[in-house]
Amino acid sequence: MTEVPDYLFERSRERRRALGLLSDDGEAGGGAAAAAPALASPVAAAPVAAAIAPHVEPTKPLSPAAQSAISRDKVPMWILPVLFLLPIWGFTYVQLLEDDAPIPDTALNRGAMVFATNQCASCHGGTGGGGVGYQLNEGEALLTFPTVDPMLDWIASGTEAWGVGNAIGDPNRPGGAHIAGDRAVMPGFSQTLSESDIYAVARFVREQLAGEELTPEQIADRDLHWEDLGGGGGGGGGHGDGHG
Ligand code: HEC
Repeated sequence: MTEVPDYLFERSRERRRALGLLSDDGEAGGGAAAAAPALASPVAAAPVAAAIAPHVEPTKPLSPAAQSAISRDKVPMWILPVLFLLPIWGFTYVQLLEDDAPIPDTALNRGAMVFATNQCASCHGGTGGGGVGYQLNEGEALLTFPTVDPMLDWIASGTEAWGVGNAIGDPNRPGGAHIAGDRAVMPGFSQTLSESDIYAVARFVREQLAGEELTPEQIADRDLHWEDLGGGGGGGGGHGDGHG
């Protein structure tokens, strides 16, 4: 709380007395006429004597800056809840920024998005566990398609363009070949998806759902190939380096 030194009070009283605004016993509003009889009393005169003790300099006012420095609360009370909430606000703010951050434009992220938004998920299950369409996870899709390219053709074609009765992928698939038309009809995606999106969703199925194991070099090669097809930043025309 504010602490005003006694001598300042005294100095203030002194000046108000001089202006006739304060009687000597400290009561305000006396005026010169009221102050006069009080001054006559020796008892009431005692504080006046004390007030003009040598260490007080009643005529020299403090500068406005000094006065406000003295009368100001050193730490305002409202700062306490603010200080308390500041880190919480900062943390929340950073969280919000992170939530707003765009998902990195990688082939696998792109593939996950394509898988979720083109009904692959509704026929094959969100995690590839199977449904109307075959199970893709736990290595199943890799048994049908040991290599990437026939898988791209299959996704682009679908059952009809592939040809009912033809083996889907490996005719020597462990446990027996999958034959087009045997299970149901899968639509082809050559009209709805770009080449780079078909490549991205195939990678997602193989690497993310089916658990294909690759070396860092193989992954780097696939990333480059995806970019050559037009995937990734800006969706441009690739590097033109003939890769893939
Ligand atoms: C309307 C349901 C449906 C949709 C949508 C669908 N599929 Fe299929 N998928 C099937 C069916 C049914 C088969 C088997 C085809 C057959 O029997 O001719 C299949 C087969 C496959 C196979 C071969 C699996 C195997 O082991 O034989 C893959 C890989 C595949 N789908 C991936 C995809 C991807 C990727 C998408 C999305 C871009 C997709 N599918 C969308 C129903 C669907």
